[in-house]
Amino acid sequence: MNETQKQGFDKQDYDMFVHPYQTAGGVVMVHLTGLRRDLELSHKHKPIHHISCRFKTMESIEGKLRRRGLPVSWESAQEYLTDIAGIRVLCYYKKDIYLLAKLLKKQLDAIVVKESDYIANPKPNGYRSFHMVLGVAVYGAESKQYYPVEIQIRTLAMDFWASMEHQLCYKSQHINHEEMTRQFREYSDSLEQMQHNLENFYDFDTDAIM
Ligand code: GTP
Ligand code: MG
Repeated sequence: MNETQKQGFDKQDYDMFVHPYQTAGGVVMVHLTGLRRDLELSHKHKPIHHISCRFKTMESIEGKLRRRGLPVSWESAQEYLTDIAGIRVLCYYKKDIYLLAKLLKKQLDAIVVKESDYIANPKPNGYRSFHMVLGVAVYGAESKQYYPVEIQIRTLAMDFWASMEHQLCYKSQHINHEEMTRQFREYSDSLEQMQHNLENFYDFDTDAIM
């Protein structure tokens, strides 16, 4: 272990470090809240069930850098971690996920850093979700810098699956892990089938907006 990895973080610097990430996350939150209200008022459409926002704690940043064998420093966190600001949006329908992703990309003062569509291409374990890392512009008095915000957009069914999988796969050692993994893959496909069938009743014309 080298010198930097032995050192931890200085707590006093955390507030300073996380501040622009909070601003960037706030920008996305305000935008999503505005979009949600506008779609409701102008189109009588409610695409969003729930939005949550979290910022990685100092301990969590340190833990992730150590797990990845990266130097434990603020510079390293800024360079390698793209999920210090994280937003999760829960939708009823898959069509609304793509609508929101498209509107965010089009409307925000942001650049797309990374996009992973685990709905079109689910992970081998059955994980489904739409992930996007946006570099969001944060303005100082005389500066402009982009800060990453990880946005996960998924349906309630996908979130139910991910929450149960996270809860069970990391906690239980005593259960038959292989059998559980097999069942999770199966449930993911069943939920997708249910989602697909219910989505046939969806009658909002997203193309009218996109
Ligand atoms: P991290 O280093 O963990 O952030 O993952 P990554 O850089 O490979 O990015 P990815 O888009 O794959 O995952 C980002 C986040 O999505 C994770 O931190 C989890 O919150 C969630 N996630 C990804 N894969 C799974 C999964 O298999 N199960 C569950 N429950 N959540 C997942
Ligand atoms: Mg992450």
